[in-house]
Amino acid sequence: MTHTGEQKIQWAAQYMPVLNAIRERFEKEKPLAGQRIGMALHVEAKTACLVRTLAAGGAEVYITGCNPLSTQDDVAEALREGGIACYAKRGCNTEEYYAAIDKVLDARPTLTIDDGMDLINRVHIDRRDVLPEIIGACEETTTGIHRLRAMQADGKLEFPVIAVNDTPMKHYFDNVHGTGESVLASIMLTTNVLLAGRHVVVAGYGYCGRGVATKARALGARVIVTEIDSRRALQAHFDGFDVMSMIEAAKVGDLFVTTTGNCGIITGRHFPLMKSGAILSNAGHFNNEIDGIWLAEHAAAVEHRDGIDTYIIDGKKIHLLAEGRLVNLATPKGMGHPIEVMDLSFAVQALSVEYVAKFGRTLSAGVHDVPTEMDEYIARLKLAAVGATLDELSAEQKEYMSSWNHGT
Ligand code: NAI
Repeated sequence: MTHTGEQKIQWAAQYMPVLNAIRERFEKEKPLAGQRIGMALHVEAKTACLVRTLAAGGAEVYITGCNPLSTQDDVAEALREGGIACYAKRGCNTEEYYAAIDKVLDARPTLTIDDGMDLINRVHIDRRDVLPEIIGACEETTTGIHRLRAMQADGKLEFPVIAVNDTPMKHYFDNVHGTGESVLASIMLTTNVLLAGRHVVVAGYGYCGRGVATKARALGARVIVTEIDSRRALQAHFDGFDVMSMIEAAKVGDLFVTTTGNCGIITGRHFPLMKSGAILSNAGHFNNEIDGIWLAEHAAAVEHRDGIDTYIIDGKKIHLLAEGRLVNLATPKGMGHPIEVMDLSFAVQALSVEYVAKFGRTLSAGVHDVPTEMDEYIARLKLAAVGATLDELSAEQKEYMSSWNHGT
């Protein structure tokens, strides 16, 4: 019988036309021959398709997880059976997490791929022995890019990194639609509660928050947004959502989703104000948006269910999903983003890796944008895959758009 991990990978592969097209070219051209790629990503089926694409391009690939709770062990096993060095394990402790990162670095990668910057951080602080051989890197998520830009501002980033997250073909789709759908799907599968009619509080109205808020409303939820940025708050208001501070929202919300990439969003100031039965979840990269430590310290009792910890505070029940880690990946039923979305994000990754392999030595240390032509190329591949056709600018339109001399 086929391995369950292998079945998951094959299921994902059938809905990844863009990555598959890149893989076919990589198989012929071997643009990554001689490269050793070290990766720290969520190890699940779509990521496995990226790993195999890079291996098809001629690279040796070494991978571990980027979150202690997001690895799917059967997929990790299928990768190992296919000859990939995979060190990820679901539910690892902090020591095991960094030991696995070190194993990836022991391979002396020439290129790295991160989701959250843990590999790059480790290389610059504890594993400087591997720095000289690294040509460059790619970073998948908003939080990783924030950390990298802070590092660059301090003059500490020592090689070029492509900001995969920042390109339209990633964050327009992945952060908005991928996070939006998968966060709600994971919450519904874990809790079995109805969203229609519920007050859903979304903290942060960035790309992820907008996706969660819009899709929750589509399911009939009454959505409240909290923000610290006045323009994003106003955008939420004009999009038809109620906007209020978390202190106010805490009293009203039935379900909370944090999507800020910031720390201390729901804390000991808020929990005592909440209704009994409130469900709390986080979609931001790290588990510091909801103060789980406060809950553990102040609860009279804790009940554990699969993916849900219930804290009894002043006789009220506050439910925290997936220990406050990425709810779309870290609940037992969380499968991460829908496949089609990761097809685009990982197509950007694959082409960015090829770009670093080709041009990394000529790029300065620091964060670099994905080249626009590459992004457009991926969009065209996807449009072709869905059978959509594009209009083209006529010569007259090109001239009109580039002129300042046309008036009434
Ligand atoms: P973004 O920068 O577009 O949005 C974040 C928003 O949160 C901003 O509008 C900001 O003003 C707001 N914010 C910051 N501090 C706040 C506070 N104290 N209260 C209320 N709002 C606050 O970032 P994006 O792309 O939406 O990413 C958000 C987080 O989600 C990051 O940590 C990112 O790495 C992560 N992410 C998670 C994914 C998943 O699969 N769950 C997928 C993609 C990104």
